[in-house]
Amino acid sequence: SGIATVSGIAAVPNVAAVQVPKEATILFGSQTGNAQRLAGRLADRLKADGFDVTLSAMNKFKTNELKKAVHLFVLVSTHGEGDPPDNAISFYEFLHGKRAPELKHLKYSVLALGDTSYEFFCKTGQDFDQRLEELGAERLVGRVDCDVDYEEAASGWIQAVADKLSSASAAAAQPLQAAAAAAAATTEAPSAAVVYTRNKPFQAEVIESINLNGRGSDRETRHLELSLEGSGIAYEPGDALGIVPHNDPQLVAELIETLGWKASEQVTTKEGDVLTIEEALTTQYEITVLSKTLLEKFAPFSKNEQFNQLLTDSAKLREYAKGRDLLDLLNDYGPFTWQPSDVVNVLRKIPARLYSIASSIKAHPDEVHLTIRKVQYESHGRERNGVCSVYVSERLEVGDKVSVFVQSNPNFKLPASDETPIIMVGPGTGVAPFRAFMEEREEAGASGKSWLFFGDRHYVTDFLYQTDWQRMLNDGVLTKLEVAFSRDTEQKVYVQHRLLEHAAELYAWLEEGAHIYICGDEKHMAHDVHKALLQIVKEQRNVSEEAAAAYLNELQDAGRYQRDVY
Ligand code: 2AM
Repeated sequence: SGIATVSGIAAVPNVAAVQVPKEATILFGSQTGNAQRLAGRLADRLKADGFDVTLSAMNKFKTNELKKAVHLFVLVSTHGEGDPPDNAISFYEFLHGKRAPELKHLKYSVLALGDTSYEFFCKTGQDFDQRLEELGAERLVGRVDCDVDYEEAASGWIQAVADKLSSASAAAAQPLQAAAAAAAATTEAPSAAVVYTRNKPFQAEVIESINLNGRGSDRETRHLELSLEGSGIAYEPGDALGIVPHNDPQLVAELIETLGWKASEQVTTKEGDVLTIEEALTTQYEITVLSKTLLEKFAPFSKNEQFNQLLTDSAKLREYAKGRDLLDLLNDYGPFTWQPSDVVNVLRKIPARLYSIASSIKAHPDEVHLTIRKVQYESHGRERNGVCSVYVSERLEVGDKVSVFVQSNPNFKLPASDETPIIMVGPGTGVAPFRAFMEEREEAGASGKSWLFFGDRHYVTDFLYQTDWQRMLNDGVLTKLEVAFSRDTEQKVYVQHRLLEHAAELYAWLEEGAHIYICGDEKHMAHDVHKALLQIVKEQRNVSEEAAAAYLNELQDAGRYQRDVY
């Protein structure tokens, strides 16, 4: 292991000092900004330890710099069906491609971010970890895979990396006592202002809650206005707001009844709070998602032969988990012997839901606005409620408080210059950040052109923020607006059809330096819009598919093609 090698070297300090240069290259691949923030923290920590640190997004990193690197730290999240974040794709493909270099000179470690409720949990991080090893690099600290509640695991990894490096360089270059002093002095610097996070959210008051859809719509979309007064919270257009929702009290009651527990029974959380089991299941723990990881945690509480059988087959386990929840598990395989006191060790904390902010704080001081579509569907014979969207739509009223925090998103930002033209594609709730963008430009009196593509089902009932767009068009803040109402006509029209209709002009805007932004559904919309853009570039430039893809990649690397998709 790393420790053995280094302490072996320590006997010959002069030689070792040369062999362990204080260099660290930290690369992140980040969609919503978590990996980027953690990379920043690692960088600060290692700089404080006297390291010469290179910190970069993967797509901004010149791969020939790998030759000079000594220590490589990769922090990367995983999305959708095991996909890398947008700004990790080029580096991922480089390392996995034929031209990947040998990396025998490198020591490395990977921090993987993910969500255990997805099948391909932390896949991108795992791929990097495995590939770096294949290329000959030496693992300095074992990979850590983080679930959505990543704080503790990620801090542990940062600490382990810093310890390993400082023990390596200290053993090599310094007398032992000095090394200990240096290590003690480098705990992470506390930040001055109060920072609200998932684990320490701000209690924001609801000041407005409106259904944006008209009567007769098959959708319900909340426009929620929250007060940030007294919080000191600031945000920028493109940032997201995290909401920590409460579970449906009726579902909690059903669970407790099925389990035969007493609602008033007390439990102590890991943080040391004493709550009734009813409160704990309502406000603290996730009860609506089954995952392979969670099902496996139920093994000790079951003597059910069929359940134990299921646990032996990963594929079947995943299949069973899909679209089911805890109540299904109890009904299908219960009774389980677990008790209220086991809850804190078995269930994970309710993950926060991130919503793209729909307002500019300059236009609405001390406020933040969100656009939240209510999710309700049927699965395995039961009605299912989207945890947060139904909480917000049905149980939060004006005057109530809700737990929130800002999640900044450095990868979805207005251009630095107010003069740069912007193209925005945001069907459905994907339009939210563009309201923030346009309000910000309106406040700034920006001169840059702007073009919005919006789509939804019906013009009459589903034209979100119609009056805002009309005002902005009248004022000249918004230059052009294209709409695609998919269910008003025989043939469906989507935003990408509108893009294609305006191919020549759209391409001209891009050539003028426009930034293009896509927000909304990832699986279908963002994918189809990307295909439409490929076609537009291909036809307008009269080039091959590959050349068109390279054009879009360049835009992406230059930060001129940004996506906020979910
Ligand atoms: P649909 O529901 O009629 O299929 C916002 O949800 C809008 O996005 C709706 O009009 C929806 O249309 C549309 N939509 C659905 N799939 C899409 C896709 N692949 N590309 C673009 N828009 C899509």
